[in-house]
Formats: sequence, C-alpha cells, structure tokens
Amino acid sequence: MCGIIGIVGKDAVADRLVDGLKRMEYRGYDSAGVCTIESGQLVRRRAPGKLANLVAELSGNPAPGNIGIAHTRWATHGAPTAENAHPHATGEVALVHNGIIENFKTLRDELVADGHTLESETDSEVVAHLVSREIENGASPQDAVKSVLPRLRGAFALAIAFRQHPGMLIGARLGSPLVVGYGEGEMFLGSDALALAPLTQKIAYLDEGDWVVIDQAAATIYDSENNRVEREVTTSGASAAAVEKGNYRHYMQKEIFEQPTVVAQTLSSYVHQADETVALPQIDFDLSAINRVTIVACGTSYYAGMVAKYWFEQFARVPVDIDFASEFRYREPVLEDGGLSLFISQSGETADTLAALRYCKEHGQTIGVVVNVPTSSMAREADLLLPTHAGPEIGVASTKAFTCQLAVLAALAAHMAVKKGLMSRDEEREVVKHLLEAPAALNAALDHDEDIAGMAHLIAPARDVLYLGRGPDFPLALEGALKLKEISYIHAEGYASGEMKHGPIALIDEHVPVIVLAPSGPLFEKTVSNMQEVNARGGKIVLISDEEGLAEAGEGCMATIQMPRVHPLIAPLVYAVPVQLLAYHVACAKGTDVDQPRNLAKSVTVE
Ligand code: F6R
Repeated sequence: MCGIIGIVGKDAVADRLVDGLKRMEYRGYDSAGVCTIESGQLVRRRAPGKLANLVAELSGNPAPGNIGIAHTRWATHGAPTAENAHPHATGEVALVHNGIIENFKTLRDELVADGHTLESETDSEVVAHLVSREIENGASPQDAVKSVLPRLRGAFALAIAFRQHPGMLIGARLGSPLVVGYGEGEMFLGSDALALAPLTQKIAYLDEGDWVVIDQAAATIYDSENNRVEREVTTSGASAAAVEKGNYRHYMQKEIFEQPTVVAQTLSSYVHQADETVALPQIDFDLSAINRVTIVACGTSYYAGMVAKYWFEQFARVPVDIDFASEFRYREPVLEDGGLSLFISQSGETADTLAALRYCKEHGQTIGVVVNVPTSSMAREADLLLPTHAGPEIGVASTKAFTCQLAVLAALAAHMAVKKGLMSRDEEREVVKHLLEAPAALNAALDHDEDIAGMAHLIAPARDVLYLGRGPDFPLALEGALKLKEISYIHAEGYASGEMKHGPIALIDEHVPVIVLAPSGPLFEKTVSNMQEVNARGGKIVLISDEEGLAEAGEGCMATIQMPRVHPLIAPLVYAVPVQLLAYHVACAKGTDVDQPRNLAKSVTVE
C-alpha cells in the first residue's frame, strides 16, 4: 500500500525521488520522506500528510546527495505522524518498507532487550534496527540483509541505504512488488514501473523472495536461497505522460471520460469486428470442460465479478461462486477438479486476492486473471491472462478499470458459451454487435455530465443514501454506493430492489435520497414497483433510466437522469457512468479530496 523508490545516481536525487513519490501517491498519502547520503551522513527529511508537505520541508531543508531512498505511506502500524514516517534510520542504515512485518512485536522486544531504542510505532523500524545491528557487528550490507530477511514474517518490499556505502542500495521483496530500473550509469528501485517511468523504461521484475544489490552500473539479484539469478529486463510500457491530468480537474474525472476510448481499446482485443466473433487470447486448456467458475476479488472489482456471474450463468450455464478475497481465503473453500478460478483486479497486487489466487492454484484450479497491470504479480501467476486495456488508473476510486473489466468478462462468458455449444453463431454475432455498441453508448451517457452536476446539491446534504437495482444492475447499485461513500463520505448502501421490503424500507423518509437504476428491459416493471413502494413512504427518488423508462415512471421523482436506450447486456457498463459522475459531483460539491480520499489508498498490498 505504500510506495517506495531508490536511486543510485550520477547527480542529485532528491527531486527525482520526490517526482517518483508523486507518481506513487495513489499507493498512500499519509506521510512521505526521503533519505540521501551526503558526506558520509544519512540525510533524512520527513513530513506527515500529503507529499506537498515534504516538498515544503525540502525547500527549506534540502537533502543533497547522489543516492537516496524515499517513501509515501499508507499507515498500518502507528498514526500518520512525522515520527512514523519512513525512511526509518539508525546511525548506519536507512530503510523504506511497503508491506507488514507480522512478527514485529517479537523482533521489537528482542531489539529493546538488546539495548536498541526505537522511535516509531511502526513495524518497519525493526527491520532497520535488525540490519543495523548486523552492520555494527561487522557484517557487510549483503551479509546483514541475508541474515535478516529469513527472520521477517509477513510481506515486504524494502529499499535500504547504508551510511558507509554511499554507492549501493539493497532491495528485497516478498509478497509486495518491487522492480529494478536500469538507467544510463544509474540504477533504480521502485514499487512499480510507473514510479520509474521518467527515469527508465528498462525494468526487471523481482520474483518472490528475491533480493538485489544495485550500484551505479549494475544490479546483482539473488533468490530466496541466496543463489545469483538473472531476471529478464523488459521494456516497460509505462509512460510518463499517461499520469498527467490534462485539462481535467481530477484524475477521477479524466478516467470517467476516458471510458469510451479504453472500453473500445479493450474490446478490440476480445472481439473480431470483421467476422463478428468473440476472440480470446490463446487458451491452452479446454474452456468447454470448465464445470464451475469461482470468482474472487475485492471492492469494485468484486462488483464487476457479481455482474459477470449473471453472464456466465445465463450464457454458459455454468455454476458460479463469488466471494470477497478476504473472506474466501480463510474459509477453506471446496474446489472441485475442472474449475476455473477467476481473479479480477485493477492493480493485480491486492494482497487478499493474490493469496486467494495462490490457494486456488494449490488446489488444482485453472487460474484466470482479469487485470489492468499486465506486469503485476497476479498477471504473472495466471494460466489465462485477460488484460483490461484501461491504462494507468490514478484516482483512488476505480472507474475505467471497472467498465473494462465488464467488457472482458462479457466476452469471456460468451466465449465459454460458444465453446460449450450453448451459443449459436447468430447469438454470438448479436453479443458482439451489442458489445461494440458500448463505446458510443458510454459517450451518450457522458453527455449527461452537466445534468448530473446540476443535481449534486440534492444529494450533497444527505446523511444516508440508498441505491437500488435488480439483476445485473444490483451490483451497479452496490458500486454506486461504494463510489459515493469513498469519495464524498456520505453513508450509502446498495440493495437488490426486491429486498427493500424485507427490512431496509424502514429507513425511508424524506431525508434519504434513493437512487434507482432501472434500464428498460425485462426487469424494469419489477424495479419500478419497488420504487413505488419507496415513493409511497415519502422517499425522494432519483430515477436513472432511458427515455422510455423515464416516460413511464419518472413522474413524481425528485430528479431523473436519462441514459441512452441500450441492450441489457451492456446496461451495466453504461449505468456505471451516472453513478460514477453522481459520486464525483457530490464529492466536488462537498469539497472533499476526490483523487485521494481520506484513509484510502489505491493499491491494497496488505491484508
Ligand atoms: C473502489 C476501489 C477499490 C478497489 C479494490 C480492489 O473504488 O477502487 O474498492 O476496487 O481495492 O482493488 P484491485 O482491483 O486493484 O484489486
């Protein structure tokens, strides 16, 4: 969840370290810090809160030096204070850490008993002291790290600087990502390729348990058994420009508006326009033999999986289980042979999803991964890699990754149906036709941005908001509620509309806006009946539907949002837009930090 970066450079590194942190602020923004080595001293600068505070600190108190490490934090152990900010340092060693050291209490007690004074409440600081103790006892940096790593339980990506060795850094990873960047007479470490994008495109991804020594000229990589190993150096596609906001006010806004383009981009890898077929990447297993699909994910990606459950069942007639990764991994799920386990993730690094993936792998499942970062840990462990081509998603609230996930999942469900002989050629053609209508329909949905902005004031004062949907639009209700909660801090719940009368309807009064997602189609009448039940109890309704739906049921609503008339298959993609825009405009009206909402981080690499 934190972001780390290290540079062994030809010239001053502080500004470049800070730029790297800026690109990783989506990983956490509770505090930030840098440590360089200059004239044989560790020079450490840290500040609580956003990166801007560290920049201010550095402008008054620079950190010179051609080598350094830096960190942006999402707090796990200890409050977001300056003392708990990384880098953690002793007289000899400075260290940045992403992950959680689970046995830190035992290690801390041991260090305290040994006379060490620890300054922070973090789990990370113990690692700095353990390494430092080895150095003080005469070990080389390599030997110090070699003896400490096996003592750490949990997950870590580390970058360590040594006062007496101003030409080298050591990195290590287990459970959290770390890449090595190769420059011209300079070398880098980073949590991801994006952080290093302006510095280099030549990237090696460390494997689990690897550790690495970098100096200005080279990287020497070791595996968990301390054997010298080579890791392939690849050319990263991460572009420096891709993380700019352009003319948009927020990344989230930009990413919402990118959806027609990135969904089209994604679909171009999954459907053949010319022969109107669904076209998946080379699959070296028999998709027709899949007898069960188990979908595992977190947050918004989980809701994409919920929508996909409807499609797999409807098209491919295959039973589907779906669970939150954090629940799935601890409930000892029963997995029969012949199953496809499908993991959905924007980042490909979410710790719970990754652990669930490994559980399924151990239990003989075929591993499918729908992921936006093709170099991520999940992508590298997939049997069937299904990339979404959404481009870097920086806003903490996921938007374009979600609609791209839906596009991929619809294509996969249809392809499975074709392979199982359950979808005729004509039906496949229909599916392709409707999927290809999605980008234009997304554009038409975006045309209502101003109308939605104009009604934000109706929702912004609310303390609670309900979202209702039925069938594949029920997960959209959940997604709408999640978006509103996370960026506007308004309490919101999504319900299956038919479930209202079983309890939640008691919440209805004139202070609780109810957002109803009801595209015309087979479920429209049923949803509208549930809406009328809310209306009859004084509920204030915002109806999101198409022209026909609004004509039939829009009267008496507090507000309406018109969507284009679309086929039910693509309705979940299209109806994602108004719930994203509504959350966005309400958050703007409330003046919250849209791209970096409180307490959150984009990439959740801790359990
Ligand atoms: C919500 C959001 C989160 C993520 C979740 C999973 O807007 O972004 O709920 O969807 O943390 O992350 P990934 O998809 O990276 O596994």
